[in-house]
Amino acid sequence: MTSALVDQLRADLGAAHYSVSALTGLWGSEADAALRRNQRVPALRALTALRTKIGRAEPSATLAWLFVLGLPVTHADLAAALPSLSVAGAVALGLVAGGNAAAAPGATEKPGSADADSPLRPLLELRPYSFVDEHGAGSWWIASDLGELALGRPLGETHVLGVGGASLTLSGLLIPTRVQTALDLGTGCGIQAMHAARHSDHVVATDISVRALELAALNAQLNGIGNIEFRLGSLFEPVAGERFDHIISNPPFVITPRTEGVPSYEYRDGGLVGDALVEAVVRGAAGHLRPGGVAQLLGNWEYRTDQDAFDRLDLWLDAPKAEPGAGPHPRPVLDAWIIEREVQSPALYAETWIRDGGTRPGTADFDRLYGAWLDDFEARGVSRVGFGYMLLRSPAADGTALRRLERLPGALGHNPAGIGSHLAGCLAAHDRQTAADDGLLSRMRLTVASDVTEERHYWPGQEDPTLMTLHQGGGFGRSVPLDTALAALVGACDGDLDVGSIVSALAQLLDADEGELATELLPGVRGLIDDGFLLPPA
Ligand SMILES: C[S@@+](CC[C@H](N)C(=O)[O-])C[C@H]1O[C@@H](n2cnc3c(N)ncnc32)[C@H](O)[C@@H]1O
Repeated sequence: MTSALVDQLRADLGAAHYSVSALTGLWGSEADAALRRNQRVPALRALTALRTKIGRAEPSATLAWLFVLGLPVTHADLAAALPSLSVAGAVALGLVAGGNAAAAPGATEKPGSADADSPLRPLLELRPYSFVDEHGAGSWWIASDLGELALGRPLGETHVLGVGGASLTLSGLLIPTRVQTALDLGTGCGIQAMHAARHSDHVVATDISVRALELAALNAQLNGIGNIEFRLGSLFEPVAGERFDHIISNPPFVITPRTEGVPSYEYRDGGLVGDALVEAVVRGAAGHLRPGGVAQLLGNWEYRTDQDAFDRLDLWLDAPKAEPGAGPHPRPVLDAWIIEREVQSPALYAETWIRDGGTRPGTADFDRLYGAWLDDFEARGVSRVGFGYMLLRSPAADGTALRRLERLPGALGHNPAGIGSHLAGCLAAHDRQTAADDGLLSRMRLTVASDVTEERHYWPGQEDPTLMTLHQGGGFGRSVPLDTALAALVGACDGDLDVGSIVSALAQLLDADEGELATELLPGVRGLIDDGFLLPPA
């Protein structure tokens, strides 16, 4: 019955051309931008003007009015927008209800009846979502709980989030390599699981929220995705004893004071002290990855007054926890590439997340929560909070280890299909270069990646540049300063000459000792391979 209703809903949304580009067409890009700032007035005005102009409700406009702007519609308008499903079907699916009463924060309204005279109000958001990945362009519809805009008040603690900024960040990082099994831990509305379903035979999606799993299952079905299995439970409990090729998690990483009266939002707060939830996901990943399998997570991590966050991350990676006095772990249990993108002070962090929960600055509640956050950070000696991407890998049998923790603030390069392929390429290139001793590296014929450009600065009137920099157009948009010899070596990497021959020619040209020049240049070459500037042969 429900399945038939979902099929009817899919048919209606398709027939109404309810898509991201259609909505932008209806209300314009400025209204789109305003909606991203949680302001609906420009979109509302555009839809009202459209209705006046054409003298009727356009189906996609009715759906957007209801499910994006969160405003009531008439029975007749909804019936016209959902001709297959019908209003009764929309009520049965829990999409709308009659009457104006707003649900209590966090409450989930049960589907009920709607009489033909009363307005229909949304019980869910249902937004079109579009993306481009390595497999091409795609377009879905995503149902989630009503946001602050529709509710007109702070979110409930059991709110199921739609596709937010962090969701997009993580989905844009996903390595698209074909795998058998993937796990999406903390699936929420199911967005990562749905992306993973494009490159995995089978996906397990878990959450502690029954409602999240229901919405995620609805979203998968609505978008015709049949290879996701949904399981209830905390952290790795639902997958005890199982291993995966790809683990994905946008975990509830927000650090929240465990203080009476501070709301604990299921969607962003794992209920543990400080960054312990992220630590638990990292430590747990080691036991749930197949050899060579990769885990990709987002996370927050704390800088303590007496400890750099990267030192703490290093300890998490050496899971399982070392026994006291047992000495360091002989070999890292997980390969890791961690990229810190941002660091916030306790004050800025508190402001960001209190506002995110819907509590507005200038209110007594905001100030009370602010104090609780600062008390918690102070009591635990937290001086800053880092945010970033974590890529963990169960080391492959060949023993090449990767332990790379770096700070990369600022804009990424241009990656229309996400950065996942770049990450995969860098991992593979790293494995190639670490497995090669200097002799083997010297025999490699490298090429310069197609997105790389070189910038040179000259003192006026001088023939030789004073500054040379390589820029990466895609990937992380890195810039690397070069000295004359390394610049010349990179310039000669056209896939014809091997590295050794280039070094030899340069040694003659620069009147330098070939062995010494190789010793000087090869570490730089390895770094450029790791970062995707120089590509090893296929
Ligand atoms: C930030 S949301 C991510 C949702 C979605 N994966 C995305 O990327 O947009 C975190 C999700 O983790 C779930 N969660 C919270 N605590 C959890 C736990 N201990 N184990 C598993 N999932 C948990 C929440 O219910 C929520 O759906």
